[in-house]
Amino acid sequence: MRVLTGIQASGKLHIGNYFGAMKPMIELQEKEELFTFIANYHSLTTSKNANLLRELTFDAAVDYLSLGINPEKTTFWVQSDVPQVLELYWMLSKFTPMGLLERAHSYKDKVAKGITANHALFSYPVLMAADILLLDTQKVPVGKDQIQHVEMTRDIATKFNNEYGEIFTLPEHMVNDNVATIPGIDGQKMSKSYDNAIDIFMESEKKLQKRCNKVLSSSTPLGEPLEYEGCHIYNLASLFLDEDRKSELRTRYKSGEEGYGHFKKYLKELIWEEFSQAREKREMYLNNPDLVKDILSDGAKKMQIIANDKMLQVREAVGIL
Ligand code: ADP
Ligand code: TRP
Repeated sequence: MRVLTGIQASGKLHIGNYFGAMKPMIELQEKEELFTFIANYHSLTTSKNANLLRELTFDAAVDYLSLGINPEKTTFWVQSDVPQVLELYWMLSKFTPMGLLERAHSYKDKVAKGITANHALFSYPVLMAADILLLDTQKVPVGKDQIQHVEMTRDIATKFNNEYGEIFTLPEHMVNDNVATIPGIDGQKMSKSYDNAIDIFMESEKKLQKRCNKVLSSSTPLGEPLEYEGCHIYNLASLFLDEDRKSELRTRYKSGEEGYGHFKKYLKELIWEEFSQAREKREMYLNNPDLVKDILSDGAKKMQIIANDKMLQVREAVGIL
Protein backbone atom coordinates (compact mmCIF):
# COMPACT_ATOMS: atom_id res chain seq x y z
CA MET A 1 0.00 0.00 0.00
CA ARG A 2 1.28 3.44 -0.90
CA VAL A 3 1.42 5.72 2.13
CA LEU A 4 2.38 9.41 2.08
CA THR A 5 3.37 11.58 5.01
CA GLY A 6 4.17 15.27 4.80
CA ILE A 7 6.29 16.95 7.42
CA GLN A 8 6.04 20.61 8.31
CA ALA A 9 9.50 21.55 9.50
CA SER A 10 8.77 23.69 12.48
CA GLY A 11 11.77 23.46 14.76
CA LYS A 12 12.73 21.28 17.64
CA LEU A 13 10.92 18.00 17.99
CA HIS A 14 9.54 16.95 21.34
CA ILE A 15 8.64 13.57 22.75
CA GLY A 16 4.95 14.20 22.00
CA ASN A 17 5.86 14.44 18.29
CA TYR A 18 7.95 11.31 18.63
CA PHE A 19 5.33 9.05 20.17
CA GLY A 20 2.38 10.71 18.43
CA ALA A 21 3.70 10.89 14.89
CA MET A 22 7.26 9.75 14.25
CA LYS A 23 7.37 6.36 15.91
CA PRO A 24 4.19 5.17 14.14
CA MET A 25 5.64 6.46 10.86
CA ILE A 26 8.93 4.66 11.38
CA GLU A 27 7.04 1.47 12.12
CA LEU A 28 5.00 1.91 8.93
CA GLN A 29 8.05 1.79 6.71
CA GLU A 30 8.52 -1.87 7.67
CA LYS A 31 5.08 -2.82 6.33
CA GLU A 32 4.12 -0.34 3.61
CA GLU A 33 5.54 1.55 0.66
CA LEU A 34 6.26 4.77 2.51
CA PHE A 35 6.84 8.18 0.92
CA THR A 36 7.86 11.04 3.19
CA PHE A 37 8.66 14.62 2.25
CA ILE A 38 9.39 17.92 3.92
CA ALA A 39 6.67 20.35 2.96
CA ASN A 40 8.78 23.48 2.50
CA TYR A 41 6.41 25.07 -0.06
CA HIS A 42 3.73 24.81 2.60
CA SER A 43 6.05 26.36 5.16
CA LEU A 44 6.41 29.39 2.88
CA THR A 45 2.83 30.34 3.80
CA THR A 46 4.04 31.38 7.24
CA SER A 47 7.81 31.80 6.82
CA LYS A 48 9.38 35.24 7.11
CA ASN A 49 13.04 34.38 6.90
CA ALA A 50 14.89 32.55 4.12
CA ASN A 51 17.79 31.36 6.26
CA LEU A 52 15.46 30.06 8.90
CA LEU A 53 13.39 28.12 6.37
CA ARG A 54 16.56 26.61 4.88
CA GLU A 55 17.81 25.63 8.33
CA LEU A 56 14.50 24.18 9.46
CA THR A 57 14.23 22.12 6.29
CA PHE A 58 17.72 20.70 6.70
CA ASP A 59 17.29 20.10 10.44
CA ALA A 60 14.02 18.27 9.89
CA ALA A 61 15.74 15.99 7.37
CA VAL A 62 18.55 15.28 9.84
CA ASP A 63 16.15 14.65 12.73
CA TYR A 64 13.91 12.29 10.78
CA LEU A 65 16.85 10.33 9.40
CA SER A 66 18.41 10.11 12.86
CA LEU A 67 15.22 8.89 14.45
CA GLY A 68 14.71 6.10 11.98
CA ILE A 69 13.58 7.08 8.47
CA ASN A 70 15.49 4.53 6.43
CA PRO A 71 16.24 5.82 2.92
CA GLU A 72 16.67 2.24 1.71
CA LYS A 73 13.02 1.61 2.48
CA THR A 74 11.39 5.02 2.33
CA THR A 75 11.44 7.59 -0.46
CA PHE A 76 12.44 10.78 1.37
CA TRP A 77 12.67 14.16 -0.35
CA VAL A 78 12.08 17.89 -0.07
CA GLN A 79 8.85 19.08 -1.70
CA SER A 80 10.48 21.88 -3.71
CA ASP A 81 12.82 19.38 -5.41
CA VAL A 82 9.79 18.02 -7.25
CA PRO A 83 8.19 21.23 -8.55
CA GLN A 84 5.79 19.30 -10.79
CA VAL A 85 3.54 19.44 -7.76
CA LEU A 86 3.00 23.15 -8.44
CA GLU A 87 1.75 22.44 -11.94
CA LEU A 88 -0.67 19.89 -10.59
CA TYR A 89 -1.76 22.38 -7.93
CA TRP A 90 -2.85 24.73 -10.70
CA MET A 91 -4.71 22.00 -12.58
CA LEU A 92 -6.53 21.06 -9.38
CA SER A 93 -7.43 24.64 -8.57
CA LYS A 94 -10.10 24.59 -11.23
CA PHE A 95 -11.79 21.72 -9.40
CA THR A 96 -11.68 23.42 -6.03
CA PRO A 97 -14.83 25.40 -5.29
CA MET A 98 -14.30 28.54 -3.23
CA GLY A 99 -16.84 27.26 -0.72
CA LEU A 100 -14.76 24.16 -0.07
CA LEU A 101 -11.74 26.26 0.87
CA GLU A 102 -13.83 28.72 2.85
CA ARG A 103 -14.94 25.86 5.09
CA ALA A 104 -11.38 24.76 5.95
CA HIS A 105 -10.93 24.75 9.75
CA SER A 106 -7.20 25.04 9.58
CA TYR A 107 -7.39 28.22 7.46
CA LYS A 108 -10.00 29.74 9.75
CA ASP A 109 -7.94 28.86 12.85
CA LYS A 110 -4.80 30.41 11.40
CA VAL A 111 -6.61 33.62 10.53
CA ALA A 112 -8.22 33.70 13.97
CA LYS A 113 -4.71 33.45 15.47
CA GLY A 114 -3.76 36.63 13.65
CA ILE A 115 -1.90 35.21 10.64
CA THR A 116 -2.60 37.49 7.67
CA ALA A 117 -5.00 35.87 5.24
CA ASN A 118 -3.38 35.56 1.84
CA HIS A 119 -3.94 33.40 -1.19
CA ALA A 120 -1.22 30.87 -0.32
CA LEU A 121 -2.69 30.31 3.12
CA PHE A 122 -6.15 29.99 1.60
CA SER A 123 -5.14 27.55 -1.11
CA TYR A 124 -2.85 25.49 1.14
CA PRO A 125 -5.25 22.49 0.95
CA VAL A 126 -5.04 22.47 -2.87
CA LEU A 127 -1.26 22.15 -2.72
CA MET A 128 -1.67 19.39 -0.16
CA ALA A 129 -4.12 17.67 -2.53
CA ALA A 130 -1.49 17.92 -5.28
CA ASP A 131 1.11 16.29 -2.99
CA ILE A 132 -1.24 13.43 -2.34
CA LEU A 133 -2.62 12.93 -5.86
CA LEU A 134 0.72 13.23 -7.65
CA LEU A 135 1.73 9.76 -6.53
CA ASP A 136 -1.50 7.80 -6.35
CA THR A 137 -1.40 7.79 -2.57
CA GLN A 138 -3.73 5.30 -0.94
CA LYS A 139 -3.32 6.24 2.72
CA VAL A 140 -2.34 9.46 4.44
CA PRO A 141 -1.47 9.21 8.14
CA VAL A 142 -2.49 12.51 9.73
CA GLY A 143 -3.35 14.14 13.03
CA LYS A 144 -7.05 14.87 13.54
CA ASP A 145 -6.61 18.50 12.44
CA GLN A 146 -5.60 17.35 8.95
CA ILE A 147 -8.45 14.89 8.23
CA GLN A 148 -10.47 17.62 6.55
CA HIS A 149 -7.64 18.29 4.11
CA VAL A 150 -7.64 14.64 3.01
CA GLU A 151 -11.43 14.80 2.60
CA MET A 152 -11.00 17.90 0.45
CA THR A 153 -8.43 16.03 -1.63
CA ARG A 154 -10.99 13.31 -2.30
CA ASP A 155 -13.58 15.92 -3.34
CA ILE A 156 -11.15 17.61 -5.70
CA ALA A 157 -9.98 14.29 -7.21
CA THR A 158 -13.55 13.12 -7.70
CA LYS A 159 -14.48 16.30 -9.55
CA PHE A 160 -11.40 16.01 -11.77
CA ASN A 161 -12.03 12.31 -12.50
CA ASN A 162 -15.68 13.00 -13.32
CA GLU A 163 -14.66 15.47 -15.97
CA TYR A 164 -11.50 13.87 -17.40
CA GLY A 165 -11.61 10.16 -16.55
CA GLU A 166 -10.08 8.04 -13.82
CA ILE A 167 -6.75 9.80 -13.48
CA PHE A 168 -6.47 10.04 -9.69
CA THR A 169 -6.61 7.48 -6.91
CA LEU A 170 -8.85 8.56 -4.04
CA PRO A 171 -6.81 8.64 -0.83
CA GLU A 172 -7.97 7.75 2.65
CA HIS A 173 -6.83 9.33 5.86
CA MET A 174 -5.32 7.17 8.53
CA VAL A 175 -5.65 8.30 12.13
CA ASN A 176 -4.00 6.18 14.74
CA ASP A 177 -6.52 6.14 17.59
CA ASN A 178 -4.21 3.98 19.69
CA VAL A 179 -1.76 6.82 20.00
CA ALA A 180 -2.50 8.68 23.19
CA THR A 181 -2.02 12.40 23.64
CA ILE A 182 1.34 12.76 25.33
CA PRO A 183 1.28 15.11 28.31
CA GLY A 184 3.81 17.88 28.81
CA ILE A 185 5.61 18.81 32.02
CA ASP A 186 2.40 20.45 33.30
CA GLY A 187 0.16 17.52 32.41
CA GLN A 188 -1.55 19.37 29.52
CA LYS A 189 -1.05 18.17 25.92
CA MET A 190 2.64 18.51 25.13
CA SER A 191 3.07 21.22 22.50
CA LYS A 192 5.84 23.56 21.42
CA SER A 193 3.32 26.39 21.73
CA TYR A 194 2.60 25.75 25.42
CA ASP A 195 6.16 25.88 26.73
CA ASN A 196 5.61 22.48 28.33
CA ALA A 197 7.58 20.26 25.96
CA ILE A 198 10.56 18.01 26.55
CA ASP A 199 12.68 18.11 23.40
CA ILE A 200 14.08 14.90 21.95
CA PHE A 201 17.52 16.33 21.30
CA MET A 202 18.60 18.37 24.31
CA GLU A 203 22.08 19.87 24.28
CA SER A 204 23.24 17.97 27.35
CA GLU A 205 22.15 15.49 29.95
CA LYS A 206 22.27 18.29 32.50
CA LYS A 207 19.78 20.41 30.50
CA LEU A 208 17.51 17.40 30.10
CA GLN A 209 17.64 16.82 33.87
CA LYS A 210 16.71 20.48 34.46
CA ARG A 211 13.70 20.07 32.18
CA CYS A 212 12.64 16.83 33.88
CA ASN A 213 12.93 18.54 37.26
CA LYS A 214 10.22 20.91 36.06
CA VAL A 215 7.65 18.14 35.65
CA LEU A 216 4.82 19.12 37.97
CA SER A 217 4.43 16.79 40.96
CA SER A 218 2.59 16.90 44.27
CA SER A 219 4.45 17.51 47.49
CA THR A 220 4.31 14.23 49.40
CA PRO A 221 7.20 14.23 51.91
CA LEU A 222 10.02 11.74 51.48
CA GLY A 223 9.33 8.48 53.32
CA GLU A 224 5.65 8.28 52.40
CA PRO A 225 4.30 6.08 49.58
CA LEU A 226 3.66 8.01 46.39
CA GLU A 227 0.59 7.87 44.19
CA TYR A 228 1.54 6.92 40.62
CA GLU A 229 -1.93 7.33 39.19
CA GLY A 230 -2.22 10.79 37.70
CA CYS A 231 1.50 11.41 38.37
CA HIS A 232 2.97 13.21 35.33
CA ILE A 233 6.43 11.77 35.99
CA TYR A 234 5.03 8.24 36.03
CA ASN A 235 2.95 8.87 32.90
CA LEU A 236 5.93 10.18 30.98
CA ALA A 237 8.26 7.42 32.18
CA SER A 238 5.65 4.79 31.19
CA LEU A 239 6.08 5.75 27.54
CA PHE A 240 9.53 4.19 27.64
CA LEU A 241 8.71 1.06 29.67
CA ASP A 242 7.23 -2.34 28.96
CA GLU A 243 4.60 -3.82 31.33
CA ASP A 244 7.14 -5.50 33.64
CA ARG A 245 9.18 -2.38 34.08
CA LYS A 246 6.06 -0.29 34.63
CA SER A 247 5.07 -2.67 37.40
CA GLU A 248 8.55 -2.35 38.96
CA LEU A 249 8.19 1.41 38.86
CA ARG A 250 4.79 1.23 40.57
CA THR A 251 6.35 -0.89 43.33
CA ARG A 252 9.04 1.75 43.80
CA TYR A 253 6.34 4.46 44.06
CA LYS A 254 4.45 2.48 46.67
CA SER A 255 7.51 1.58 48.77
CA GLY A 256 7.86 5.11 50.06
CA GLU A 257 11.64 4.80 49.94
CA GLU A 258 12.09 7.23 47.08
CA GLY A 259 10.86 10.75 46.44
CA TYR A 260 9.86 12.58 43.26
CA GLY A 261 13.44 13.73 42.83
CA HIS A 262 14.53 10.13 42.30
CA PHE A 263 11.82 9.53 39.74
CA LYS A 264 12.70 12.71 37.86
CA LYS A 265 16.26 11.42 37.67
CA TYR A 266 14.96 8.08 36.44
CA LEU A 267 12.81 9.83 33.79
CA LYS A 268 15.87 11.71 32.53
CA GLU A 269 17.81 8.44 32.29
CA LEU A 270 15.02 6.79 30.32
CA ILE A 271 14.79 9.64 27.82
CA TRP A 272 18.55 10.00 27.46
CA GLU A 273 18.92 6.25 26.88
CA GLU A 274 15.99 5.97 24.43
CA PHE A 275 17.51 8.52 22.08
CA SER A 276 21.20 7.69 22.53
CA GLN A 277 21.51 5.97 19.16
CA ALA A 278 19.55 8.71 17.44
CA ARG A 279 21.86 11.32 19.00
CA GLU A 280 24.91 9.56 17.60
CA LYS A 281 23.37 9.31 14.15
CA ARG A 282 22.41 12.96 14.33
CA GLU A 283 25.98 14.00 15.11
CA MET A 284 27.10 11.94 12.14
CA TYR A 285 24.59 13.58 9.76
CA LEU A 286 25.31 17.08 11.08
CA ASN A 287 28.99 16.47 10.38
CA ASN A 288 28.21 15.14 6.89
CA PRO A 289 25.66 17.50 5.36
CA ASP A 290 26.50 16.20 1.89
CA LEU A 291 25.30 12.77 2.90
CA VAL A 292 21.92 14.26 3.86
CA LYS A 293 21.77 16.18 0.59
CA ASP A 294 22.56 13.00 -1.37
CA ILE A 295 19.79 11.07 0.38
CA LEU A 296 17.28 13.84 -0.35
CA SER A 297 18.45 14.13 -3.92
CA ASP A 298 18.07 10.35 -4.46
CA GLY A 299 14.56 10.57 -3.04
CA ALA A 300 13.72 13.49 -5.33
CA LYS A 301 14.99 11.55 -8.36
CA LYS A 302 12.69 8.65 -7.59
CA MET A 303 9.82 11.06 -7.13
CA GLN A 304 10.63 12.88 -10.38
CA ILE A 305 9.97 9.68 -12.32
CA ILE A 306 6.59 9.16 -10.66
CA ALA A 307 5.71 12.85 -10.97
CA ASN A 308 6.62 13.10 -14.66
CA ASP A 309 4.59 10.04 -15.43
CA LYS A 310 1.54 11.37 -13.62
CA MET A 311 1.86 14.83 -15.14
CA LEU A 312 2.00 13.31 -18.62
CA GLN A 313 -1.35 11.65 -17.94
CA VAL A 314 -2.82 14.83 -16.49
CA ARG A 315 -1.58 17.09 -19.29
CA GLU A 316 -2.86 14.65 -21.86
CA ALA A 317 -6.24 14.42 -20.11
CA VAL A 318 -6.78 18.19 -19.90
CA GLY A 319 -5.35 19.04 -23.32
CA ILE A 320 -2.13 20.82 -22.42
CA LEU A 321 0.43 19.98 -25.10
P1 ADP B 1 2.90 21.02 18.36
O1 ADP B 1 1.59 20.82 19.08
O2 ADP B 1 4.05 20.92 19.28
O3 ADP B 1 2.91 22.27 17.51
P2 ADP B 1 2.63 19.73 15.83
O4 ADP B 1 1.26 20.26 15.67
O5 ADP B 1 3.74 20.28 15.01
O6 ADP B 1 3.03 19.80 17.38
O7 ADP B 1 2.53 18.16 15.66
C1 ADP B 1 3.27 17.38 14.77
C2 ADP B 1 2.78 15.95 14.91
O8 ADP B 1 3.04 15.47 16.24
C3 ADP B 1 1.28 15.80 14.69
O9 ADP B 1 1.05 14.62 13.93
C4 ADP B 1 0.69 15.62 16.07
O10 ADP B 1 -0.43 14.78 16.05
C5 ADP B 1 1.85 15.00 16.85
N1 ADP B 1 1.80 15.49 18.24
C6 ADP B 1 2.13 16.72 18.66
N2 ADP B 1 1.99 16.85 19.99
C7 ADP B 1 1.54 15.66 20.45
C8 ADP B 1 1.21 15.14 21.74
N3 ADP B 1 1.29 15.89 22.83
N4 ADP B 1 0.77 13.87 21.81
C9 ADP B 1 0.68 13.09 20.71
N5 ADP B 1 0.99 13.51 19.47
C10 ADP B 1 1.42 14.78 19.32
N1 TRP C 1 -0.52 19.95 6.10
C1 TRP C 1 0.30 18.95 6.74
C2 TRP C 1 0.56 19.39 8.20
O1 TRP C 1 0.48 20.54 8.52
C3 TRP C 1 1.61 18.75 6.01
C4 TRP C 1 1.38 18.23 4.63
C5 TRP C 1 1.56 18.92 3.46
C6 TRP C 1 0.96 16.93 4.27
N2 TRP C 1 1.27 18.12 2.39
C7 TRP C 1 0.90 16.89 2.86
C8 TRP C 1 0.64 15.81 5.02
C9 TRP C 1 0.51 15.73 2.17
C10 TRP C 1 0.24 14.65 4.33
C11 TRP C 1 0.19 14.62 2.93
O2 TRP C 1 0.90 18.54 9.01
